[in-house]
Amino acid sequence: MFNFEALPQWVGYSLIIYLSLPLLVYYLIPNLFYGNRSTKKRVIIYVLGDISHSPRICNHAKSFSSKNFQVELCGYVDSTLPKVISEDINITVHPIPRINEFGIIRKVSFQFICIAAKLWELRGSNYVLIQNPPSIPIMPMVAIYRVLTGTKLIIDWHNLAYSILALKYNGNFWHPLVLISYLIEFCFSRFADYHLTVTKAMEDYLVAKFRLNSKRISVLYDRANNQFQPFEVTKNFSRKDALATEPCVKNYIPSDFDIEKGDRIIVTSTSFTPDEDIGVLIGALKIYENSYEKFDKALPRITCFITGKGPQKEEYIKKVEEYEWNRVSIVFLWLSAEEYPKLLRLCDYGISLHTSSSGLDLPMKILDMFGSGLPVIAMNYPVLDELVKQDVNGLKFSDRRELHESLLFAMKDKKTYESLKEGAYKESEKRWYTNWDKSFSEFKIIY
Ligand SMILES: *[C@@H]1O[C@H](CO)[C@@H](O)[C@H](O)[C@H]1NC(C)=O
Ligand SMILES: *[C@@H]1O[C@H](CO)[C@@H](O)[C@H](O)[C@H]1NC(C)=O
Repeated sequence: MFNFEALPQWVGYSLIIYLSLPLLVYYLIPNLFYGNRSTKKRVIIYVLGDISHSPRICNHAKSFSSKNFQVELCGYVDSTLPKVISEDINITVHPIPRINEFGIIRKVSFQFICIAAKLWELRGSNYVLIQNPPSIPIMPMVAIYRVLTGTKLIIDWHNLAYSILALKYNGNFWHPLVLISYLIEFCFSRFADYHLTVTKAMEDYLVAKFRLNSKRISVLYDRANNQFQPFEVTKNFSRKDALATEPCVKNYIPSDFDIEKGDRIIVTSTSFTPDEDIGVLIGALKIYENSYEKFDKALPRITCFITGKGPQKEEYIKKVEEYEWNRVSIVFLWLSAEEYPKLLRLCDYGISLHTSSSGLDLPMKILDMFGSGLPVIAMNYPVLDELVKQDVNGLKFSDRRELHESLLFAMKDKKTYESLKEGAYKESEKRWYTNWDKSFSEFKIIY
């Protein structure tokens, strides 16, 4: 019989190592670097927000999926996911748990653990894409992840986290939290391989202030998703017919209101927060009433829809009820994500009162309005020029009086209406996918 004990010890060890090699090569190492995933190209998209309320993130997911990527979409699932996401076989949604705990330290530590666990589980991906803001704690984490694993990092800049935070502290840049937030964005953004921005102004800012390489930055303009489409008039179904039958509007149009005589419907959506002053719109409509009473009985009627909900809503409803309206009717609505596009396409003008904390981002609501073929009358701020062109696809104002003047102009002048409408239709033809392809081919990312 063969005597094992007679062999030198090293032979035994070598034998053990040799026998365990397949285990190491075929199981342990792949598991360490790739987890349990397929070998398809993969992208992790991580959003610290509700997925169904992050249209841009959903668009990224769909775009990657259409390029044959396996998409790992991580985010909060607070409401039903859009079908285009839940039914896409290439997209796996990873719901992240929410913590209702008050206190920033506990919340951030909890997020830290969730993110770390998820990134580990999804290791071996080709890209990781995050949106900014929020940048804490995710930006430093993915930056370190990029260094450790080589997974290429893409940051999608919607805005600057520190400037939003600064608003909370009366614009004080030297508040410790604002300063920390600034430093985090400044330091960790340079670990990213590619940057996307929502405006040219944001790109210029990143190049000038954060000293990022402009070759790695691409402007990717937002666009309305395909739910938002202009109203299509057919022979037997006019806009007037639609207004009389569409459930979300039919009960709110006054009986003597006639779009064929030039009466106009305007719409705005808002979350009734202090940074978006609906009072400006209500004030302008009051002046419009006054102009009607005192100067011009030929002014068209206006129906104004204000959709959304938020902290100051009751206050505004009360303000509107206290006033006697003859030419204008104001309707407050709260619509589902399916109904809102149906309302938009039946209106004549969209109103935007949004202004930006950083002055570097564009309001999504204007894009939805353009997608629906509506010209917009928008509160002006510097970067808005990248989207709204005065007298081409909209009108701009800076206060109540100017909004009133724009309204007069938009309501009375048929030529203006026709030419703005045409401008808005052209906008409605621009969609997300062409922009996305352009940005990613600039980066030379090969799908
Ligand atoms: C999913 O990926 C496959 C290839 O793996 C591709 O053919 C298909 O078009 C993708 N699906 C969607 C909805 O884009
Ligand atoms: C309009 O006509 C088309 C056919 O020409 C028909 O299919 C459709 O149901 C009609 N719509 C209405 C609202 O009558």
